[in-house]
Amino acid sequence: MAIFLDSSKIEEIKKYVNMGIVRGLTTNPTILLKEGVTGGMAGVKARIVEIAKLVDPYPVSAEVTTNDPAAMLAQAKDIAGWAKNINVKITIHGPNGELDNLSIVHELETKHNIRVNVTAMMSAQQCFLAAMAGATYVSILSGRVNNMGYDSINEIKKLRLLIDQHKLKAQIIAASTREALNITQWLEAGAHIVTVIPSFIDTMIVHPYSKETVKMFLEDAAKAK
Ligand code: E4P
Repeated sequence: MAIFLDSSKIEEIKKYVNMGIVRGLTTNPTILLKEGVTGGMAGVKARIVEIAKLVDPYPVSAEVTTNDPAAMLAQAKDIAGWAKNINVKITIHGPNGELDNLSIVHELETKHNIRVNVTAMMSAQQCFLAAMAGATYVSILSGRVNNMGYDSINEIKKLRLLIDQHKLKAQIIAASTREALNITQWLEAGAHIVTVIPSFIDTMIVHPYSKETVKMFLEDAAKAK
């Protein structure tokens, strides 16, 4: 799977989809707000449906916006129906550690055939339980893990071992990129996917010595005319 985009900007998404390097996309309410999406759920739906078309057949994550369990279940079912490649993002627990969410994840995955991306996780143990509950994707916000002074690479390694040992279907998404280096680091550590801030893709592609080499080729080609 490798690279997902962490974005909801249409032109930006088109640019990287056209390069053929995008295998999926993640959003969250903060990304949507930062990129000017307003109008409540109707506004979110319009943008997500547009993105899902661009990224098709690859998966797109859209997050629920409520912490009320009944409303969350209803919203998740609604979101999953917006397009065939949409999966629903649900946080590991509520803002005060409320424990309703894993039951909802389990119900969506096992009774409604809806794929869930469990998010806002900071440790291998949280992700392991989300994987046990049946989540298709488990997102470890690795940049935030590093920000707290813990080593995200260790958490990803431990998590991959657990997922493989117990033959769980969950794919690890290492999220919350802070440096271009995170992408290869986290994939090497065992993440199935890294969801990437688009500007880091440019950083991965462009190298000063490549620029110099390309310049030399073009100048020599011009001299030979
Ligand atoms: C993606 O799924 C996450 O929501 C996102 O990468 C979080 O990024 P942040 O930690 O920079 O907010």
